[in-house]
Amino acid sequence: MNIAVFGAGYVGLVTGACFADLGHDVVVRDVVPEKIDALRHGEVPIHEEGLAELIRRNRDRIRFTTEVDEAVRSAEIVYVAVGTPPTYSGDADLTAVWTVVDELPTVERRIVVAMKSTVPVGTGRTVRHRLDERGLASVGYVSNPEFTAEGTAVRDFLHPDRIVVGAFEDVDADLVVALHEGIDAPVVRCDVASAEMIKLAANAALVTRISFINEIANVCEATGADVLKVAEGIGLDHRIGSSFLRAGIGYGGSCFPKDSLALKQLAANSGYSFQLLNAVIEVNELQKRRVIGKLERRLGSLRERKVALLGLAFKPGTDDMREAPSLVLAGRLLAEGARVSAWDPVADGAVHLDGVEVAGSALEALDGADAAVVVTEWPELVELDWSAAAARMRRRLLVDGRNALDADALRAAGFEYEGVGRPTGE
Ligand SMILES: NC(=O)c1ccc[n+]([C@@H]2O[C@H](COP(=O)([O-])OP(=O)(O)OC[C@H]3O[C@@H](n4cnc5c(N)ncnc54)[C@H](O)[C@@H]3O)[C@@H](O)[C@H]2O)c1
Repeated sequence: MNIAVFGAGYVGLVTGACFADLGHDVVVRDVVPEKIDALRHGEVPIHEEGLAELIRRNRDRIRFTTEVDEAVRSAEIVYVAVGTPPTYSGDADLTAVWTVVDELPTVERRIVVAMKSTVPVGTGRTVRHRLDERGLASVGYVSNPEFTAEGTAVRDFLHPDRIVVGAFEDVDADLVVALHEGIDAPVVRCDVASAEMIKLAANAALVTRISFINEIANVCEATGADVLKVAEGIGLDHRIGSSFLRAGIGYGGSCFPKDSLALKQLAANSGYSFQLLNAVIEVNELQKRRVIGKLERRLGSLRERKVALLGLAFKPGTDDMREAPSLVLAGRLLAEGARVSAWDPVADGAVHLDGVEVAGSALEALDGADAAVVVTEWPELVELDWSAAAARMRRRLLVDGRNALDADALRAAGFEYEGVGRPTGE
């Protein structure tokens, strides 16, 4: 099939590249000319495992443009994969979505608009009205939400747990289902509103599990239990399962914070207070800040202390720093008067962090530091020569915000090691 993808971001590029890999002809359109220029020259502007190779391998079937007409000219399906960031009120900002809907040229043949952007429940119905008002009744509409995770997005796209297709007309759902031929996964066919809710509810379920295990970790800290063992013990219960039971310093990223907030606001706008989700969000905010308390308990005032933040991306495998816990930690540390150094193997801290010394290596970030915080569990940090790190630090205090390191080995190397929800060893 011929497909247009609007948005050359994390989702749009993966969508375009994977559909090209399945044998479809794809045109990806973005409004940022520099991005399109780079892609045309074979440069991929984001860090996503396997994506550059996939685009290269399928270069005969994937093109990049800034022009709407060029993208839509022969498209049977137009994917919308533009950003839907939070507004000041916490609702999703749909400006880019409406721009795409209004930009669609008049077409005689039937095409289908497929929404991949995460949008509030009810958006599809409003888009349908807008298309009808524009005389585009021949344009079908399908909600086909995306569940890929950054860092594993290509694999997730080609081997998904399920494909969700919500449509107003069966014929449109059929087309989008057929497009996925070659992907072996259950298909959930439903109405548009339910598809929109599936996406928001899935993310709400995941953040609930994260805040749940983080609260268990906090109680472990207060009572002397070890959250790693607790997670293992409860995760083996088949009714619970083991995924998303890793305690840490809280979730971040471009989706979880904004989508949970958007669902909270969606409920509130309809007069319902989603109390569980409110608590999940608050627990996450507090979780990031608990690191400061841990440092202060050992160092006293943080004024003029040097703290190294190791890992800045919201998780390993991506350069994405949107809503990353590192941003909150850096802000809190600077507010306490600390000197902050930082390092990440791919995320560009200099772009996102003011007042922070961004180092060229983890060891450089640790030079003369009074404490280090592992913020992102990059393999480079797990494999770091921690003896060399110890030699460079002024005080060997290490807060492992992801429980990624070997506590016993680090204590043996002379570190005061503190994880999340784990005995302090004192
Ligand atoms: N990032 C993820 O892992 C992920 C996973 C699932 C769902 N989502 C959802 O997918 C959507 C996109 O997320 P993302 O992370 O790819 O965002 P992104 O910010 O990386 O990319 C969005 C792109 O859309 C472009 N754009 C804006 N207006 C446009 C227009 N009129 N025409 C064409 N392009 C336009 C922007 O320039 C940008 O390149 C969001 O709704 C997000 O919630 C993201």
